[in-house]
Amino acid sequence: MNLLLTGGSGFIGSNLVRWLLEHRPGWRVVNLDKLTYAGNPENLADLADHPRYRFVRGDIGDGALVRRLIEEEKVEAVMHLAAESHVDRSILSPAVFIETNVGGTQVLLEAAREAKVGRFLHCSTDEVYGSLGETGLFTEESPLQPSSPYSASKAGSDLLALAYAHTFGLPVVVTRCSNNFGPYQFPEKLIPLMIANALRDQPLPVYGDGRNVRDWIHVSDHCAGLAAVLERGRAGQVYNLGGSSERRNLEVVHAVLDLLGKPRSLVRFVADRPGHDRRYAIDASKARRELGWEPSRRFEEGLASTVRWYVENRGWWERVMSGEYRSYYQRQYGDRT
Ligand code: NAD
Ligand code: TYD
Repeated sequence: MNLLLTGGSGFIGSNLVRWLLEHRPGWRVVNLDKLTYAGNPENLADLADHPRYRFVRGDIGDGALVRRLIEEEKVEAVMHLAAESHVDRSILSPAVFIETNVGGTQVLLEAAREAKVGRFLHCSTDEVYGSLGETGLFTEESPLQPSSPYSASKAGSDLLALAYAHTFGLPVVVTRCSNNFGPYQFPEKLIPLMIANALRDQPLPVYGDGRNVRDWIHVSDHCAGLAAVLERGRAGQVYNLGGSSERRNLEVVHAVLDLLGKPRSLVRFVADRPGHDRRYAIDASKARRELGWEPSRRFEEGLASTVRWYVENRGWWERVMSGEYRSYYQRQYGDRT
């Protein structure tokens, strides 16, 4: 099968490229990625000569490029992951989130419709549901109540993808997954940032009271879920994916420090994120029932192997954290840590 994957040079995308080349030997993967600050060609440098992989640098909002690629590569399916993905950046600079996540998705959907592409997976997020209280889980029927510019832009693109299924009959499937972690995650997200700061004996900024809950899933389990939804999901349907591993942020941060043998005194409580969602937790029983998918990795094992990866790949994150990231960090955290 000929697959167009967008955002393949980012965190989940680069893990997905590797997962697909390994687990789907008949597939060709064309990765369209703009290489924003979050897209790193180093993530896939070793695949440059792989016979079933091609990298194209470009913007999903460039309709002519997208149409040409779909035609030239005889694309049969699209997996759309390209996005601006960080909540804190969406609070500092929302415009590009609408441009890429909503506008870019529309361009891709339209090109796929014109070319009658057989399958379009839109990678959405559980953040479109907003925040939970102390109890309950998000199901696919939960109302969409996004809180941040990031999650609002993802809700917009999620609904647009479903509208293309409803109105034009484009065979769209949508996934809404919980918080991922694993190798190659940009060190602006909680887990890799805490590992990188701890390894340099720098303060670990924890927002608010540290009791916000996220439902963690290892990126390799997400990749298997994305493939299952693409292959076996019903057109026009939404599938929640999640790890059933709810943890408070402070528990996660302490676990990272313990794994590294660093003192808990490195934790700094800093001002809360504006509009901070309190709790996410996913009911993934529809994917389990219909697709036979379920996560296979325990949180503690996945976290230990992720921490090892960051210890062993210090050069990767040190290079990533130079340049543009420095000015972002100053803007986001200032003198608070
Ligand atoms: P990421 O920020 O690491 O990677 C995003 C990639 O998209 C980068 O390679 C970037 O260069 C590329 N990109 C950005 N704008 C582009 C454009 N206009 N044209 C082409 N490429 C562009 O993000 P991630 O964490 O890997 O997330 C991937 C997808 O999964 C996103 O759609 C995100 O909303 C979704 N998601 C993420 C999580 C999570 O926990 N990280 C959970 C659920 C869903
Ligand atoms: P993040 O990794 O940004 O994912 P999301 O907000 O999309 O769920 O944040 C995960 C949780 O960690 C969230 O509750 C915010 C919190 N957090 C901190 O406490 N400190 C930080 O420096 C960051 C980046 C996140």
